[in-house]
Amino acid sequence: MGAQQLDLAGLRRVYGRSGSRWFYTRVARNARHWGWTEPGQSKWRLWRAQRQLQDVLGRKLALPVGARVLDAGCGAGVVARAMAARFGLVVTGVDVLDFHLAEARRLSNRAALDDRTAFSWGDYHELPFPDDTFDGAYSMETLVHSYDPPRALAELHRVLRPGGRLVLLGPMSTVPLEELEPDARALLVPYLDAMTMTGAKLYHARNLPRLLAEAGFEVEEALDATPWYTPTSEAVYAYFRLPWEVLRRCGDPAKWLNLRSTVEMYGVREYVAWYVHTAVKPTA
Ligand SMILES: C[S@@+](CC[C@H](N)C(=O)[O-])C[C@H]1O[C@@H](n2cnc3c(N)ncnc32)[C@H](O)[C@@H]1O
Repeated sequence: MGAQQLDLAGLRRVYGRSGSRWFYTRVARNARHWGWTEPGQSKWRLWRAQRQLQDVLGRKLALPVGARVLDAGCGAGVVARAMAARFGLVVTGVDVLDFHLAEARRLSNRAALDDRTAFSWGDYHELPFPDDTFDGAYSMETLVHSYDPPRALAELHRVLRPGGRLVLLGPMSTVPLEELEPDARALLVPYLDAMTMTGAKLYHARNLPRLLAEAGFEVEEALDATPWYTPTSEAVYAYFRLPWEVLRRCGDPAKWLNLRSTVEMYGVREYVAWYVHTAVKPTA
């Protein structure tokens, strides 16, 4: 089903086009992730929701100040800097896109956080670190791109020390793709292909805890966080539906792949759940 190898060209298409880069830099303030809205809060405050989601991650990691943490798929390093600045963690980010890494280093330097954040090229299926290196690891909306989720989880397990903590955040299909109604599958699969979301075709809400256990983790919590994510989906759709229509008709739609995805995601929302999985590498 998946390419079984890193699809760098696909990822460059998703994140590298000028429209996508403009969208992430200017609109999302360099974050490439969704947001967390508490009941009663306004859904329109997207940056606050993103910040709150980062705080959920920091609380689930629950690691002491100075702990060494791996950010698997760090993008421009927004989450790594949040963990360093607000939770006192020492974060190493890896990513496979050189322009994301360059941006991450530049922004960390500007924030005077380059003593607590470092970024290097690395594919999370083949991490360039010895066994037992980190106290914690996380993936903020990146496992969706995995071409081999069991292998990625085995690598994360290998580089964590015994007792090390893992937090995975991101969207996934509620059931295996084969179990979706044909109409739903016809809607979802082209979307996943366009976004190089190979992992999202292989794991889903029902099998990810099992895959974590098979990789050697003890699953602490599999939280269906969809209610906290839904306000962001609604706001993003409302903000960008019309701009996307205009660009689709008058501009070059291929240039705006990510704007398109933020809008089209809304059309498949009933088949997508947003999860926060927390797991531990056992000590014995
Ligand atoms: C949705 S973005 C999230 C970026 C960052 N976590 C954030 O929240 O801002 C997904 C990131 O995963 C990276 N990525 C995809 N496949 C990867 C792999 N095999 N190894 C490392 N990073 C990968 C992409 O290059 C991209 O930067």
